[in-house]
Amino acid sequence: MAEKVFSLWVFLLLLHPVKPADVATPLLDGFSSGFSAAGNNLTLDGVAAVESNGVLQLTNYDTTMAPGHAFYSNPIQFKNSSGEVMSFSTSFAFAIIPQPGKQGGDGLAFAISPAKGIPGANAGSYIALFNSSNDGNSSNRILAVEFDTYMNAEYGETDNNHVAVDINSIKSNKSAQVPFNLTSGQVIQAWINYNSPTNQLDVRVAMDSAKPSSILLSDKVNLSEILNESMYIGFSAATGLFTSSHYILGWSFNMNGEAKSLNLSQLPKIQLPSATGTKKNRKGLIVGVSVSCALAVILLSALTFYIVRRKKMADAVEDWEHNIGPHRFPYEELKKATRGFKEKELIGSGGFGRVYKGILPNSDTQVAVKRIPQDSKRGLQAFISEVATIGRLRHRNLVQLLGWCRREADLLLVYEFMPNGSLDNHLFDEPKSILSWEQRFKIIKGVASGLLYLHEEWEKTVVHRDIKAANVLLDSEFNARLSDFGLAKLYEHGSNPSTTRVVGTLGYMAPELTRTSKPTTSSDVYAFGALLLEVVCGRRPINPTASSEELMLVDWVWEKWAVGAVLDVVDARMEGKFDEAEAVLVLKLGLICSNDDADVRPSMRMVVRYLEGELELREEVAMPYKKKGRGDGGGRSTVEFEDYTQSFPTTSSVYDVGGRHIEESPLW
Ligand SMILES: *[C@@H]1O[C@H](CO)[C@@H](O)[C@H](O)[C@H]1NC(C)=O
Ligand SMILES: *[C@@H]1O[C@H](CO)[C@@H](O)[C@H](O)[C@H]1NC(C)=O
Ligand SMILES: *[C@@H]1O[C@H](CO)[C@@H](O)[C@H](O)[C@H]1NC(C)=O
Ligand SMILES: *[C@@H]1O[C@H](CO)[C@@H](O)[C@H](O)[C@H]1NC(C)=O
Ligand SMILES: *[C@@H]1O[C@H](CO)[C@@H](O)[C@H](O)[C@H]1NC(C)=O
Ligand SMILES: *[C@@H]1O[C@H](CO)[C@@H](O)[C@H](O)[C@H]1NC(C)=O
Ligand SMILES: *[C@@H]1O[C@H](CO)[C@@H](O)[C@H](O)[C@H]1NC(C)=O
Ligand SMILES: *[C@@H]1O[C@H](CO)[C@@H](O)[C@H](O)[C@H]1NC(C)=O
Ligand SMILES: *[C@@H]1O[C@H](CO)[C@@H](O)[C@H](O)[C@H]1NC(C)=O
Repeated sequence: MAEKVFSLWVFLLLLHPVKPADVATPLLDGFSSGFSAAGNNLTLDGVAAVESNGVLQLTNYDTTMAPGHAFYSNPIQFKNSSGEVMSFSTSFAFAIIPQPGKQGGDGLAFAISPAKGIPGANAGSYIALFNSSNDGNSSNRILAVEFDTYMNAEYGETDNNHVAVDINSIKSNKSAQVPFNLTSGQVIQAWINYNSPTNQLDVRVAMDSAKPSSILLSDKVNLSEILNESMYIGFSAATGLFTSSHYILGWSFNMNGEAKSLNLSQLPKIQLPSATGTKKNRKGLIVGVSVSCALAVILLSALTFYIVRRKKMADAVEDWEHNIGPHRFPYEELKKATRGFKEKELIGSGGFGRVYKGILPNSDTQVAVKRIPQDSKRGLQAFISEVATIGRLRHRNLVQLLGWCRREADLLLVYEFMPNGSLDNHLFDEPKSILSWEQRFKIIKGVASGLLYLHEEWEKTVVHRDIKAANVLLDSEFNARLSDFGLAKLYEHGSNPSTTRVVGTLGYMAPELTRTSKPTTSSDVYAFGALLLEVVCGRRPINPTASSEELMLVDWVWEKWAVGAVLDVVDARMEGKFDEAEAVLVLKLGLICSNDDADVRPSMRMVVRYLEGELELREEVAMPYKKKGRGDGGGRSTVEFEDYTQSFPTTSSVYDVGGRHIEESPLW
């Protein structure tokens, strides 16, 4: 037989009592008796679940940063005997319901994958299709048609309501805005057709049972080069900081033929959790019991009163808190996650508060919980409105804020957990292992890319204000992730409004800050320059114990540069194993960024282009720095900095304008 025809029907709706005749398929038997039973043909992972009425729920809006996959358990032959992908067709019905009162996130996708699921993929903007390390790698062999409900400017997206073709990367090959609201909660049908002879991949959508004639999105791609012979098909969805419940209500697929359209009126109905359901019922029960038993009445109602009062005091949500974007965690959940904020779970402490490691009870997600005490309600309010902004920042080189919580005057911020801690722990003192040059260069490029996003790629300019090694965290693959962005600003909000405080860290603070106390993107670039030198040299920007010529790292590097011996400064612990051209590039960039004159420092856009090799860093670029007459005290407020060093021989402190030590800054 030359042509092998495969035809698959997956009707999750067949449990529906109105159509008993359809319940005959083995697939449905599997669903009705849970997923361990024989005949179950769907493989689920993440938070995906099939409800008793046959609705496949990929994610729920109560769980942030959660992936959900559902794949047909049997592999499908995609290529014919001449090794070419055959024509196929699929249609499915879905619905997306955002968390009530919030913007939804992140979307769902039909996916063709080499595995029964997509192991290792990230939630959030990756829609559980890819992760930060494999994104764009052609060995992924993943084709996805995504329905994206969150705009990620970093992937070049321009709206939060589009369908797109993704091949091996979340950066879409082609996308089209959907003419109706994907997050309306209404059932939407999608049709995807691949025509092998023409290499045409077409997508249609409608809120209707009948297949529309007009094609919404069409991409020409030869899938024979992308897919393997045997592949799995299924669905992927994820929530991020913003969340939606993603549902699939029915699905059909056909190889070498047209998939049958679904009749929307025959699909199972989504059962929404009743508005404030369970809690209310429980209260009702308590009241009922207390009325029935005379003796218990007094006791119980007193107890109820006590509990309700305690609860109110503990977690009371005030009006102004309702419009805060990011997920608001119940205090009890965070308490449980950190085992009651146990000392043992403490992973850092400093100016902004203490940081605890935690495991969210519902999803087993590791998180870092930062607890920031506030002294005034007014400060707290400003603080929390900033949190809304921070929560919307998303980039693979930023530590994602997952949510927040307020309890009385304490603000709790919940972040992704970074298993490799902060960069300073890998550079200074006695690190457990020495970072290789490849790791260092990747970290530098990561920080640059994260900072560029904050400065230029987000809708507003965000000045980090406290770039330093302690605020660069490392994920499991040693990718750099900036933390504490925006917090320095919050810190000002929270403080006494009559004093202006410069928040920054000695050695990273641009000289103009001591005069203007107005942080700018350029003062961030200055601090980034100090960071570059540190990463290459493995030294802090100020070394109080070093000889006077090595005291200020930037001066020392500059002097070595001037005498043509700049490679002498490279961290000796790498034992000479580094790329000389890259090291010279980074050192040179470090010096240029550390220019005392704010106007000649490059923008982060330029920095990234130099680092990526798109622009050549010519000798002249460094010249303005040289002309300043280094070494004779000209231009730079060296004296002030030395004053600081003598009084406070630590680089990780927060200073006010007068140089008075305020408090230790966070380690984490
Ligand atoms: C489910 O899988 C079994 C074998 O694993 C197969 O016999 C059956 O046809 C499949 N059902 C559907 C609907 O594909
Ligand atoms: C990314 O996914 C791959 C599988 O494709 C996995 O091996 C890797 O560990 C994942 N990386 C991260 C950082 O999760
Ligand atoms: C792509 O992934 C493969 C397999 O995981 C890996 O060997 C290869 O180095 C990756 N390529 C790039 C450019 O990251
Ligand atoms: C688009 O598809 C091709 C495969 O045909 C791939 O190589 C390319 O990198 C894809 N991505 C983008 C963003 O164009
Ligand atoms: C889409 O529908 C949701 C839910 O009703 C609503 O919150 C949202 O504002 C709508 N979006 C647009 C662009 O109309
Ligand atoms: C395999 O598919 C390609 C593209 O549709 C077609 O040109 C070719 O004739 C097919 N080969 C066989 C053996 O059917
Ligand atoms: C698709 O790619 C395969 C393998 O590279 C090639 O043999 C085939 O001719 C291509 N098909 C079309 C229609 O371009
Ligand atoms: C896909 O096919 C390529 C080449 O045939 C092979 O090297 C690779 O291991 C396959 N990938 C998977 C995930 O099966
Ligand atoms: C869809 O199902 C309804 C009732 O089950 C039926 O009345 C209607 O004709 C069907 N529509 C199509 C297009 O098959």
